[in-house]
This record gives sequence, C-alpha cells and structure tokens, in this order.
Amino acid sequence: MTAAVNTKTKKQSVEIQKNHFLSVKDLSRDEIMDLIAHAQSFLETNSFSSQLQDKIIANLFFEKSTRTRSSFEIAAKRLGAHVLNFESSTSSLSKGETVLDTVLNLEAMGVNCMIIRHQEERIAENMASQLKHAQVINAGDGCHEHPSQAMLDLFTIYQHKKNFQQLKIAIVGDILHSRVAHSVLTACLILGVPDIRLVGPNFLLPDQIQLPGVSLHEEIEAGVKDVDVVMVLRLQKERMESHLLSEISQYAKRYGLNSARLKLAKPDAIVMHPGPINRDIEITSEIADGPQSVILQQVKLGVAMRMAILSKLLS
Ligand code: CP
Repeated sequence: MTAAVNTKTKKQSVEIQKNHFLSVKDLSRDEIMDLIAHAQSFLETNSFSSQLQDKIIANLFFEKSTRTRSSFEIAAKRLGAHVLNFESSTSSLSKGETVLDTVLNLEAMGVNCMIIRHQEERIAENMASQLKHAQVINAGDGCHEHPSQAMLDLFTIYQHKKNFQQLKIAIVGDILHSRVAHSVLTACLILGVPDIRLVGPNFLLPDQIQLPGVSLHEEIEAGVKDVDVVMVLRLQKERMESHLLSEISQYAKRYGLNSARLKLAKPDAIVMHPGPINRDIEITSEIADGPQSVILQQVKLGVAMRMAILSKLLS
C-alpha cells in the first residue's frame, strides 16, 4: 500500500517538475547552466519577440513585490505574451473564495501560466498539482524558495566569476527566514561551489548544517574573510516571531556590511542583495552604491533570466 502510494506520488512529482518552475532543487547542473546561457543570449540581443504571442500569463502576488512582479511582467511582454496582473485586494478572495478556486477559474478562462507569490510555503507546488493545463512559476513561497531570484543571482555571479567550482560565497543576515538564501544555497550545492558560509546571529541561523562545503559563522569578520561574493540579506521582520524582534536592535552594529568589513573579502569581491534594501541596517549606503556593488545589475539581469525561464517553460 505504502509503496503504491509512493510510486504514484513520485510519478506525479516528476510530471509537476517538468511542467512548472517551482524549486531550484528540480534543476540539474546542466539545466542551470543552460538557463544562464539562454539568459545571456536575451541580454545580448536585447530585443522584443513574438515567441509567446499566443500565451496569457497571470501575475498572482499575494505578497508585495517590486522587482519580481515587474520583471516577470517586462520579461513576458518582451516575449510577446499577454499579461494579466491579478489584484488580490479587489478580487473575490475577500468574499471567501480560496486561492485554489481562484487559480482554477483563471485556468478556465484560458490563462496559460500563473506566477504565484504567497506567504504559504509550497503553495505554488500545491496549485501546480491541481491544475490541468496551466503552468506555475513559484515567485516566492513564505520562507521556503524563490527560485527565479536564485537563478538571476547565479547569472549575475557568472558575469564576474566564471568558475563556480572555485568560489567562496558568504550569505549574510537573516538566513532562517530567507527564501532567497534557501534557493541560492541549493543552487550553489548543485553547481559544486566549494565554500559557502552562512553568516548571522545564532537566532537567525539554522541550529546545525551538514552539507558539503557549508559552514555557519556568528562573526561576520570571519564569515566574509577572503570571499569572492558577499550576498547580504534583508531582516525579514514580517516573518519573525515577536521574541526575535527585540533581539535585532544590535544587528546593524554587529552584522551590517560596511567598508571595514568588506575590506576583509577579496579585493575584487562583489556585493549582492536581492532587495529591497534597508539602508544602514544590513548594508551601508556607501557599500550599496559603491564600486563593488552589483545590486542594480542583479535587477537588470533579472529581466533576461525571467525571459529565459518563461521561454524555456512555455515555448
Ligand atoms: N528580490 C525580490 O523578491 O524583490 P521583490 O520583493 O521586490 O519582488
């Protein structure tokens, strides 16, 4: 009985992975490098096309967004798709309709792809398993995953550091609540990054971690020493339990990335941040706007990477 159920779940799971973009862990090393190459070609041609002219793509953002929502919309329009921006606040959700009924109704209207952001973990996966035809892209589910952000982050790193297998990367900040950190960590492991440091106060780090090349650091100075990439994260106050909020008052002093701390990294280290930035909390403006920052480049490359994801998934 158990075996039969497992087999069915596994078959269904493979089918879901193939048709949707839900998690970095569904990707192989070759698939990641192929998406990077595809995004690079979109970046270089910088053109509009009619590749997805017969597709309707719906943005369903139940949590706020600037970068992900806008860049998916721009990416879809550059590929010729029609974009529907679903407004949850004016929808029938307020009359008690469920998210599942909402997506089933949009599918019935002919939406081909739903880009979903929601505070509930694995909701994109759950919706994908219920839809018959429409494809789903996970645009961030709670603290779980943000796979398109991880892909654009890797694409940005690749512009500056060609060999992932020689990199030292520090991810600094609220690791515990960061879906970006979880997706980037998974992607780095798939690519064989040999030295990945998770840096932050103990209450924002996992208790322990046993993954090849991954280490935990409570001292930022040791965490960023000699690294090639410093990825700074926002404190996700909206996801913190109340007892943690009182513990973060000293955060900027102990963990904020400033010029003295950045000097400990390699001289050609790049500084990344997925946004939105809380200036002078997790990063000083001097660093965020400085010569080693690639933060706005991440945003720019996000459009090309999201074109690559839509193109691969929907063509
Ligand atoms: N990085 C990111 O997800 O930004 P938004 O919340 O603005 O989409």
